[in-house]
Amino acid sequence: MALKESLAFYLMFFLFAGFVSPQLSTTFYDNSCPSALQIIKNTVDAAVQKEKRMGASLLRLHFHDCFVQGCDGSILLDDTPTFTGEKTALPNNNSVRGFDVINTIKANVESACKQVVSCADIVAVAARDSVVALGGPYWDVLLGRRDSLTANLSQANTDLPAPTLNLSGLISAFSKKNLSVNNMVALSGAHTIGQARCITFRNRIYNDTNINASFALSLRANCSTSSSNNSNLAPLDTVTPTNFDNYYYQNLLNQEGLLHSDQELYNGNFTDSQVISYVNNGAIFFNDFSNAIIRMGNISPLTGTAGEIRLNCSKIN
Ligand code: HEM
Ligand SMILES: *[C@@H]1O[C@H](CO)[C@@H](O)[C@H](O)[C@H]1NC(C)=O
Ligand SMILES: *[C@@H]1O[C@H](CO)[C@@H](O)[C@H](O)[C@H]1NC(C)=O
Ligand SMILES: *[C@@H]1O[C@H](CO)[C@@H](O)[C@H](O)[C@H]1NC(C)=O
Ligand SMILES: *[C@@H]1O[C@H](CO)[C@@H](O)[C@H](O)[C@H]1NC(C)=O
Ligand SMILES: *[C@@H]1O[C@H](CO)[C@@H](O)[C@H](O)[C@H]1NC(C)=O
Ligand SMILES: *[C@@H]1O[C@H](CO)[C@@H](O)[C@H](O)[C@H]1NC(C)=O
Ligand SMILES: *[C@@H]1O[C@H](CO)[C@@H](O)[C@H](O)[C@H]1NC(C)=O
Ligand SMILES: *[C@@H]1O[C@H](CO)[C@@H](O)[C@H](O)[C@H]1NC(C)=O
Ligand SMILES: *[C@@H]1O[C@H](CO)[C@@H](O)[C@H](O)[C@H]1NC(C)=O
Ligand SMILES: *[C@@H]1O[C@H](CO)[C@@H](O)[C@H](O)[C@H]1NC(C)=O
Repeated sequence: MALKESLAFYLMFFLFAGFVSPQLSTTFYDNSCPSALQIIKNTVDAAVQKEKRMGASLLRLHFHDCFVQGCDGSILLDDTPTFTGEKTALPNNNSVRGFDVINTIKANVESACKQVVSCADIVAVAARDSVVALGGPYWDVLLGRRDSLTANLSQANTDLPAPTLNLSGLISAFSKKNLSVNNMVALSGAHTIGQARCITFRNRIYNDTNINASFALSLRANCSTSSSNNSNLAPLDTVTPTNFDNYYYQNLLNQEGLLHSDQELYNGNFTDSQVISYVNNGAIFFNDFSNAIIRMGNISPLTGTAGEIRLNCSKIN
């Protein structure tokens, strides 16, 4: 009895002191909101059917959420006269999208279960459902994240990796989040879907030497050196832009990575072998990607009573 009580005391002490934080779990909403996952999937499927690129945008939203303060929905917060969020950070401004879909999902989930499902979890599940909708792997999403009361613009500017980074810069950016080189190369395969603006690859198509010449030439048509072309889009995977597959890595073998950072993964250094293995075996890519995105989803979540469950993903309660 005394032993049991002292064990309970120590458990509570450790939880309280933050040495043991509650873990995320795939069954977190099984009792409190059993329809949540189906509602999210239905809304994502409808949005992706309407516009395939939305699947890419929702996947990227999860990445940009997790790399700033952890996966806490901080990227969803709107600026107000007294609050500065992350939406205008350089990597996000006029670039991240999908907020309307997240808000629609949230409204649909709220009508089933009032203030139970967090916006951070909705973003994580929407990313998985998007990948599945475009032909990619399924993974069980760990759940139980809570929503932040804060955001961090300056961290969004420093911690979200830039497309100008070289291999060591990419490795550092991911290692800062406790993600390995293997995780970084696998997660970059997200660029098998979606689009990038001319401003993010202009220097590459005019100045880089590790690029297929005819590929570069074809991209210059829509991405002139004039800033008026800055927002023109090109697919990150030219071959199968709306399929989640391993063509991204094949493109790297052909020196047809769109971003400088993409081609850095296959540029005569030690990550080349991982790229080749994904070209030869798409199942290994799918498996590594699933494991890596689960790890990414575990970055510094708010759990227990930290943060809150937002009613409206765009603002704190
Ligand atoms: C490795 C470092 C990474 C860099 C330097 C990088 C950079 C970029 C850039 C510059 C764009 C184009 C943005 C624009 O033009 O507005 C982009 C798009 C995208 N990124 Fe990444 N990214 C990286 C990793 C990731 C990861 C880890 C994911 C997700 C797991 C991801 C998912 C996407 C997706 C899906 C798009 C297309 C979004 C759309 O079409 O709306 N990226 N990325
Ligand atoms: C964000 O983009 C808008 C144009 O949509 C621009 O007016 C604003 O200056 C940009 N903000 C930052 C911080 O770059
Ligand atoms: C924002 O993040 C930076 C590090 O990236 C940190 O130094 C700073 O304290 C954070 N600001 C707030 C208000 O949390
Ligand atoms: C990578 O970029 C950093 C910062 O720009 C630079 O200091 C470093 O020398 C570069 N490394 C390689 C191997 O090119
Ligand atoms: C290969 O990558 C490592 C780690 O990023 C870096 O230190 C080294 O300079 C790179 N070598 C070349 C030839 O780029
Ligand atoms: C990475 O791991 C270190 C050591 O365990 C920890 O202190 C740090 O908070 C972790 N960072 C993130 C972003 O998870
Ligand atoms: C190519 O590189 C030069 C030298 O760094 C730079 O001045 C120029 O702006 C770059 N061109 C483009 C289109 O980015
Ligand atoms: C560049 O791509 C074109 C078109 O796919 C191909 O015909 C050509 O052989 C490639 N060039 C090099 C140097 O690989
Ligand atoms: C792209 O830039 C060229 C000038 O180099 C200009 O003629 C064209 O109108 C621009 N296109 C767009 C869509 O901005
Ligand atoms: C050129 O850019 C526009 C605007 O982003 C885009 O709709 C169009 O598909 C692009 N054309 C090509 C050939 O890439
Ligand atoms: C959610 O909050 C945003 C920002 O305050 C607001 O623009 C929007 O109308 C709100 N949505 C709903 C459904 O109340």
